Amino acid sequence: MNNLERIRKPIEAELQHYSALFNATLTHQNSLLGSALEHVRAKQGKLMRPILVLLTAKALGEVNDNTYTSAVVLEMLHTASLIHDDVVDESQERRGDKSLNKVFDNKPAILIGDYILSKTIQMAAKMNSMEPISAIGRLGSDLAEGELLQLPSNLNPKLSEETYMQIIRHKTASLFGVCAELGALSVGADKQTIEEAKLFGETAGICFQIRDDIFDYFDDAKIGKPTGNDMREGKLSLPVLRALQNTHDEEIHALAAKVRAMKASKDDIERLVKFTKGQGGIDSARETMMQYRNNALSYLIRCKDSDVRRSLELYIDYVVGREM
Ligand code: IPE
Ligand code: IPE
Ligand code: MG
Ligand code: MG
Repeated sequence: MNNLERIRKPIEAELQHYSALFNATLTHQNSLLGSALEHVRAKQGKLMRPILVLLTAKALGEVNDNTYTSAVVLEMLHTASLIHDDVVDESQERRGDKSLNKVFDNKPAILIGDYILSKTIQMAAKMNSMEPISAIGRLGSDLAEGELLQLPSNLNPKLSEETYMQIIRHKTASLFGVCAELGALSVGADKQTIEEAKLFGETAGICFQIRDDIFDYFDDAKIGKPTGNDMREGKLSLPVLRALQNTHDEEIHALAAKVRAMKASKDDIERLVKFTKGQGGIDSARETMMQYRNNALSYLIRCKDSDVRRSLELYIDYVVGREM
């Protein structure tokens, strides 16, 4: 059994129910929409977000219809944001297959993303409760803000670590936070417990994105999406920001500014990547990620069920140690 299987074990039956609901929601008679949704259904990811919703709920109470609805809504929101993200990033590969924009082109991909987003609202309305619906609404705008904030045109040439953290809190951590929050809310947890769950999720999400940004510095087919893209898109992530903090070399700072301005050549990028590795930028980003991991454990919600609690501990360790 690998680590992901171990994490899923206490919620195996619940995950099956979740999948049936997810698949039933994403179907359509129209041929273009129908085949695009089929592509989406055929290539599901690691399900990190629904797993977090289900684990949190089960740790604190009894999984119920609102738990399942929350899990489906949040994975659909994630799916739509990846479809749009691949258009924005001009990325051709997702989940080890062609991205939707590659198969169907940009225009259909944008509209299919919009369609899935609208479905999330319809589905959320079924919960008949304002709290989860407003959390989902806020989340949608957080994700979009994060993606907008990281557009190179939106930033000055010197991206600070503070801005980087703001971006990843918006585009990734917010979603993990709401997963744990709605999991807890769905089983009627008290206010303080819901808040702790949310902090656990957000902190796990920060780790998740730092790990993801480290991937970009290495080539590995297992990851299932292109690497080496970030700098090409003008994105400077934590490893290079850390390496830059340790040098007064003006030439290197000028090189980083060139990357941000998207004026860097392939050789320039290779040089900056090499510099980052040589300066210990990867190790430094990893250390920070591990500090967040330890914080996440300290928020670990008052679990009633020890198997589920163990899964949440494994969850955060999977997030920081994952190879895909
Ligand atoms: C990718 O998320 C987007 C990021 C936040 C980096 P995942 O790595 O969870 O994607 P899937 O859902 O497993 O494909
Ligand atoms: C992922 O962002 C999309 C969101 C979090 C909305 P990235 O562009 O950093 O991630 P990948 O590498 O495409 O999965
Ligand atoms: Mg991307
Ligand atoms: Mg992106």
